[in-house]
Amino acid sequence: MIVVTGATGNVGRPLVEALAAVGEQVTAVSRRPGGTELPEGVRHHQADLADPGSLRPALDGADALFLLFAGELLTGERPVRELLETAGSAGVRRVVVLSSQAAETRPQAISHAPLRALEEAVRASGLDWTVLRPGGFGSNAFAWAESVRTRRTVAAPFGDVGLPVVDPADIAEVAAATLRGRGHAGRTYELTGPAPVSPRQQAQTIGDALGEPVRFTELSPEQARAELLRFMPEPVADGTLDILGEPTAAEQRVSPDVERVLGRPPRAFADWAMRNIAAFR
Ligand SMILES: NC(=O)c1ccc[n+]([C@@H]2O[C@H](COP(=O)([O-])OP(=O)(O)OC[C@H]3O[C@@H](n4cnc5c(N)ncnc54)[C@H](OP(=O)(O)O)[C@@H]3O)[C@@H](O)[C@H]2O)c1
Repeated sequence: MIVVTGATGNVGRPLVEALAAVGEQVTAVSRRPGGTELPEGVRHHQADLADPGSLRPALDGADALFLLFAGELLTGERPVRELLETAGSAGVRRVVVLSSQAAETRPQAISHAPLRALEEAVRASGLDWTVLRPGGFGSNAFAWAESVRTRRTVAAPFGDVGLPVVDPADIAEVAAATLRGRGHAGRTYELTGPAPVSPRQQAQTIGDALGEPVRFTELSPEQARAELLRFMPEPVADGTLDILGEPTAAEQRVSPDVERVLGRPPRAFADWAMRNIAAFR
């Protein structure tokens, strides 16, 4: 049995679907109920990862754990070691953790310190571990859904800075492969899309998928920061803006790892836009 945390999010949802589709027994974990969208046969368990004891009942009979930290879990000290000890003592042998490319490319950034700590704890856990380090998600474009629906406009900073955004469905497929297959223990995979794409190009791509033009408006970094602070803590907003505005060469590079693991190239942003266009209509 495989336990998937963050199971109702951008990565967790397609991961649960991919595992259930190949007949794996899956327990999906999140704080709120799983809802009706979980595939048939998938058990849901409500737990808060800030309280490792609440995860314990989900782990009985589990061989593998997909560990995803989101929201408040990404700020401050978290009981990561306790969480991993709880998993190990319940019989879990393999853990796949979702980190971030920035854990490597921004070693000093306060915004990514919790993910670096998570990686270190996983590597020291005594379990078979795999670390996934995605770059920016294509699904961050959901932040533009309302302005596209109501005004056919995307407003974003750094309009012409391209990054090889990754499709969460590809992250999920890589996670499924590493949770189920052999040969991934002790590996760290960097996950990107197939080519850099700028916010202006993303707006155009969404327009193409809609069949209607979408206007691009460039925000100043200050305007963008104010927007991000509405739903992110300050260090995370600042860390995000640094990457969007001044990406390092490593952050702009296309990684071969999705293709290495899946045997096919990563999906383009246009693919994500087509599959998710209902959110922008
Ligand atoms: N977006 C990017 O560009 C990017 C880039 C690199 C790395 N990442 C990493 O990707 C992760 C976010 O993945 P995502 O987009 O799939 O997340 P998401 O869509 O925001 O979903 C978060 C999931 O985690 C659950 N969750 C949140 N807090 C929880 C808690 N305290 N206990 C248990 N479950 C909790 C949520 O359900 P409930 O709220 O019901 O609990 C939900 O299922 C973060 O670790 C981030 O650092 C993101």
